[in-house]
Amino acid sequence: MPLLRITALNSHTQLLVWKITETFEALFSSVALKDVSLARLDGMKSESHQKGFLGVRRLLMEAGYTDFDLYYDEFGKPHLKDGRHISISHSNDFSVIVLSEENIGADLEILKEKTLKLAPRFMDISHLHHLSEEDRLRKATVVWGIKESVFKIKNEVGISFKDHIFEDDFNLEDRQCGVSLQFNNTTERFDIVFDFIEDYVFVCAFEKK
Ligand SMILES: CC(C)(COP(=O)(O)OP(=O)(O)OC[C@H]1O[C@@H](n2cnc3c(N)ncnc32)[C@H](O)[C@@H]1OP(=O)(O)O)[C@@H](O)C(=O)NCCC(=O)NCCS
Repeated sequence: MPLLRITALNSHTQLLVWKITETFEALFSSVALKDVSLARLDGMKSESHQKGFLGVRRLLMEAGYTDFDLYYDEFGKPHLKDGRHISISHSNDFSVIVLSEENIGADLEILKEKTLKLAPRFMDISHLHHLSEEDRLRKATVVWGIKESVFKIKNEVGISFKDHIFEDDFNLEDRQCGVSLQFNNTTERFDIVFDFIEDYVFVCAFEKK
């Protein structure tokens, strides 16, 4: 199945999800790429990564853009030439992009046991108490996604998931929460929305107004 869905996250922010079931060749022949993107694609070690990259380009087409409208800054953050904000994530079978009139950070993470094992290294594990094993994994993965998303909004060197980004506690049913970034002697707040897509967690962070 190609384009899975387009969802409005708010009045000016869209999530586009591509489920990658095509072959590399089919995806490759469906997109036009800049030379710099062809070189990047060529340098990727796994076909899965290549397909994720191409899936993003297919999603750009769905939104009326092409690879030629996208560029990256020196930290690797993607930008659109028309000034609209974009955030990109790909993981195994899925590519996602979020397009918005405001700065956003998005992340897609597959549910895997390792994330739960690593939880003490990146989150407040009291937020996992009193949950079933399955929900501990789901919540730890959401928190990981929250921290990746905040990192993607800020795009600043030196931000540590454990030491600088603090999630408020939340219930999995809420599909939203708040988070603080305490970095460089300032505290910033972000609003988070999250959801589950098959065995994946999707998270998007917005700067608090
Ligand atoms: C850059 C980073 C956020 C990418 O996340 P990821 O989960 O590995 O991969 P994702 O598929 O979700 O995201 C990759 C996309 O993020 C985007 N991206 C890369 N660097 C970025 C940055 N500095 N800011 C915003 N977006 C960025 C790119 O679009 C990239 O995809 P593309 O190059 O194919 O277009 C991540 O690797 C990273 O560096 N995290 C912070 C480092 C850290 O603190 N790690 C853990 C400490 S405990």
